[in-house]
Amino acid sequence: MHLGVNIDHVATLRQARYATMLDSHNVEPDIVAAAKAAQEGGADSITLHVREDRRHMQDEDAFAVRRQVNLPLNLEMGATPAMLEFALRLKPDFVCLVPERREEITTEGGLDVAGHMEELRPLVAALLENGSKVSMFIDPDAEQVRASAAVGAPMIELHTGRFANTLGEERAAETARLVAAAELAHSLGIEVHAGHGIQVANLADLSVVPHLTELNIGHTIICRAVFVGLTEAVREMKTAVEMHKW
Ligand code: PXP
Repeated sequence: MHLGVNIDHVATLRQARYATMLDSHNVEPDIVAAAKAAQEGGADSITLHVREDRRHMQDEDAFAVRRQVNLPLNLEMGATPAMLEFALRLKPDFVCLVPERREEITTEGGLDVAGHMEELRPLVAALLENGSKVSMFIDPDAEQVRASAAVGAPMIELHTGRFANTLGEERAAETARLVAAAELAHSLGIEVHAGHGIQVANLADLSVVPHLTELNIGHTIICRAVFVGLTEAVREMKTAVEMHKW
């Protein structure tokens, strides 16, 4: 199981103080240093979301991590012409296409691939042609899985937000949806990842979902890092992930 570490919140912290003076000599924390600290803790890849509103990661952060960190880079981005142009210049190892609304606090719900197949097909093709492996961040829904295959995506990332935010019967129902979506994707030859709201406390429940090869985790790792440091927080998560059979 690969662990992708999302370090967006390191940039969130920097922007809280320095958004209007990013060229100043005293800007902190350093994004590249954070990526390297995550690598030291056992991250298998670094995930950055460059949002349309640039609320946390800036373009130059992505280029700096690309240049200076020797780990696969996973760029999360909205499926827009402007972001495509950016990704074609950055050439990340992976691109995860996500829905974006300016008002949302974080990515709410998956991308509606089924409703936008005509726009997505050439975008996916351009990214693949440019050397970035593409994944679709989707809800665990058969229609979205089939549409992801139809637009040529070799990977999907199943949105685990609802799974994470529920307990009891609701979680059991959502887990069943994740299992079904993962099985369908696997049968279509698509690699299956999961992300959003994953914490140490829900790994056991998530581990019943078959065919998962990568988890993308951000918020909880950065929260833990406040107390133990980023390298140790990643190490703890990596150890917790490895305690389960995937
Ligand atoms: N994967 C995707 C596609 C996301 O948009 C996010 C949230 O930015 C994550 C994973 C990480 O979610 P969390 O921060 O809740 O661990």
